[in-house]
Amino acid sequence: MKPINSFVTAIAAVLVLIAAQHASLAAGRGPRVVIVGAGMSGISAGKRLWDAGVRDLLILEATDRIGGRMHKHNFSGVNVEIGANWVEGVNGDKINPIWPMVNDTLKLRNFYSDFDGVVSSVYKENGGLYDEEYVQKKMDRGDEVEELGGKLAAKMDPSGRDDISILAMQRIFNHQPNGPATPVDMALDYYRYDYEFAEPPRATSLQNTEPTATFADFGEDAHFVADQRGFETLVYHIAGQYLSTDNAGNIVDPRLKLNKVVREILYNRRGVVVTTEDNSTYSADFVIVSTSLGVLQSDLIQFKPQLPAWKIIAIYRFDMAVYTKIFLKFPRKFWPTGERKQFFVHASSRRGYYGMWQSFEEEYPGANVLLVTVTDQESRRIEQQPDNTTMAEAVAVLRRMFPGEDVPDATDIYVPRWWSNRFFKGSYSNWPIGVNRYEYDQLRAPVGRVYFTGEHTSEHYNGYVHGAYLAGLDSADILMNSIFNNVEFKVRGKYHDQTAEAK
Ligand SMILES: Cc1cc2nc3c(=O)[nH]c(=O)nc-3n(C[C@H](O)[C@H](O)[C@H](O)COP(=O)(O)OP(=O)(O)OC[C@H]3O[C@@H](n4cnc5c(N)ncnc54)[C@H](O)[C@@H]3O)c2cc1C
Ligand SMILES: *[C@@H]1O[C@H](CO)[C@@H](O)[C@H](O)[C@H]1NC(C)=O
Ligand SMILES: *[C@@H]1O[C@H](CO)[C@@H](O)[C@H](O)[C@H]1NC(C)=O
Ligand SMILES: *[C@@H]1O[C@H](CO)[C@@H](O)[C@H](O)[C@H]1NC(C)=O
Ligand SMILES: *[C@@H]1O[C@H](CO)[C@@H](O)[C@H](O)[C@H]1NC(C)=O
Repeated sequence: MKPINSFVTAIAAVLVLIAAQHASLAAGRGPRVVIVGAGMSGISAGKRLWDAGVRDLLILEATDRIGGRMHKHNFSGVNVEIGANWVEGVNGDKINPIWPMVNDTLKLRNFYSDFDGVVSSVYKENGGLYDEEYVQKKMDRGDEVEELGGKLAAKMDPSGRDDISILAMQRIFNHQPNGPATPVDMALDYYRYDYEFAEPPRATSLQNTEPTATFADFGEDAHFVADQRGFETLVYHIAGQYLSTDNAGNIVDPRLKLNKVVREILYNRRGVVVTTEDNSTYSADFVIVSTSLGVLQSDLIQFKPQLPAWKIIAIYRFDMAVYTKIFLKFPRKFWPTGERKQFFVHASSRRGYYGMWQSFEEEYPGANVLLVTVTDQESRRIEQQPDNTTMAEAVAVLRRMFPGEDVPDATDIYVPRWWSNRFFKGSYSNWPIGVNRYEYDQLRAPVGRVYFTGEHTSEHYNGYVHGAYLAGLDSADILMNSIFNNVEFKVRGKYHDQTAEAK
């Protein structure tokens, strides 16, 4: 985000704006809205606008596809999900809004993930399993601490001023200055927190995660989508409700433009001009920016004038976490299969080193594929090294875990690089310590005619597909409230009494 460096462009653009405004008025159309990004949130914002009668839409997407962080990849003959995979929050009091679309309308093949078996599948670094009872005791202690953490969080001031990290909470209850320290304690801790939030307990807010609204509201269950059509079918389904498609289901609507990398957004009181990398310009009345928090934190898009200081600080204070799903293909199976064996854990003395493993006997029968998940520092390290090095490391880990098996070399590997990718710069947002509704409101608040949406602007469900979906609807409503009802979005004060309006 650099200040204006060319007055000439600015003046030329303003003239274009004025012309556009006149044209749009003369034609008697509704407002023209450009949406930047065709992931879940951009597509759902477009649908809300369309349904409300705002028809003059243009969606500009940087890649050659829609779906963003929902994306399938043909790995050795099966389509696996390299981005979002689970519908998280199922079977609770409220219905997760994406669940009926996934399970009923689209009937995407999905599997309930049974994580209870994890306690019987924790492997020692040098081979063999830990005793299940021993692990269960540790898991129970972890549950206890988490519960105490929840009680502590409930007593804290809603402004976030008393907020602490999950690690600090663990110190309070365990008196271990550096948190869990043995390989098995670290592995279970990693499973409980990093595997969900993609950052370690040191960086994660207690207040924003205890409880995690997704599970508290929609239920504790997670369903793993393993459908050859891909989880992204959900985004195509929503898009197809207002963008025209051909017989094969491809979107052919001129209101969606792919391979359009937005580089500049000029805005003033009369309108906006959006410029792409190929130097096309699009003028409109409003723009909704749905790119990830990581993209906003990079300099891919220049705002002219620069965004105000409060907005810049809000954008940069949140974390873009990194979560990496590494797929490995083997010539044959050597891992145990059956009930409660799908997830297995490597208790390394190096925290987060190829820790969480998953096999797919039901999901991808006969594929002999394993998934190992890494996050944060390990993700960044692994993105920067050649895949054959990663493959060698992962296979070495398996050989130590299964000393009695003749573990063959892997024959294929896929390492998604969400962090290096300039259109994502990470996997999903994690809320830092001490942040509450106030900073969240600032993050999603519009600046003049520039509106914001995306997973990171979801009030309660940041980091999830349903969060992106609901955020798109919300942001569209914020825009329409301003256009049609003259109601401007208001950022509440940090110390505003929130208990009064808690749900
Ligand atoms: C590895 C991984 C695992 C995940 N697992 C789960 C899970 O199991 N369950 C779950 O619920 N959620 C999961 N998530 C999170 C979920 O995928 C996201 O919350 C959601 O898909 C985000 O949607 P979005 O619309 O906010 O952003 P995006 O999907 O990032 O959409 C933004 C779009 O903007 C485009 N773009 C970027 N820059 C520009 C530009 N300059 N010009 C034009 N277009 C641009 C991008 O290409 C992208 O298509 C996971 C995410 C990742 C990465
Ligand atoms: C994956 O690619 C292979 C080879 O290119 C192809 O034969 C196969 O049909 C593809 N699988 C899917 C599910 O698209
Ligand atoms: C999902 O749909 C199937 C039928 O297609 C149904 O049997 C199942 O109960 C549904 N699952 C949930 C959790 O609603
Ligand atoms: C776009 O314009 C800039 C500045 O005028 C120029 O340097 C660049 O080469 C142009 N790019 C394309 C793809 O035309
Ligand atoms: C990976 O491939 C490179 C180039 O082919 C080779 O030099 C290197 O030794 C390989 N590394 C491993 C761990 O196999």
